[in-house]
Amino acid sequence: MALLPIIHYPDPRLYKIAKPVSVVDGRVKSIVADMAQTMYEAPGVGLAATQVDIHERIIVADCSDERNQLLVFINPEILWSSPEKKAWREGCLSVPDYFDEVERATQVRVKALNVDGKEFEMELDGLLAVVLQHEMDHLVGKVFVEYLSAFKRARISMKMKKRAKQSNKELVR
Ligand code: NI
Repeated sequence: MALLPIIHYPDPRLYKIAKPVSVVDGRVKSIVADMAQTMYEAPGVGLAATQVDIHERIIVADCSDERNQLLVFINPEILWSSPEKKAWREGCLSVPDYFDEVERATQVRVKALNVDGKEFEMELDGLLAVVLQHEMDHLVGKVFVEYLSAFKRARISMKMKKRAKQSNKELVR
């Protein structure tokens, strides 16, 4: 297993569209293991492959308090979204230290492959439903800040660029 570097907004690689996984083989299992380790280490509640510069439809998530209920969604498809929506304060490992409200369906039914390549369906609500919708956006090149105003996005971009400069300075120090 290995920790993967997480790319930060507004890196253009975050806008790439992920391709479906054609076969869940050892290569994919190893990507899943690395993504899970990266998510737990960050720490985060969800991670899409796009965020680690792998442009395949793979998501890992764990919203449990004990951090021992890893969920893997390969080639996820939302079959149904509740008409009820709710605004949640979201964050993203690709947009460190920034949180803002986004409105999402409160419940979704998803179909995906698990890490063994087996198809499953699952109904999600609460934080897990939010996380899945957030991560599925990543797979189509959408970061949650795209839901915010252009003004807010510009400020976030500036903040992130400043932050990147700062950490580069720290690296060469
Ligand atoms: Ni995110």
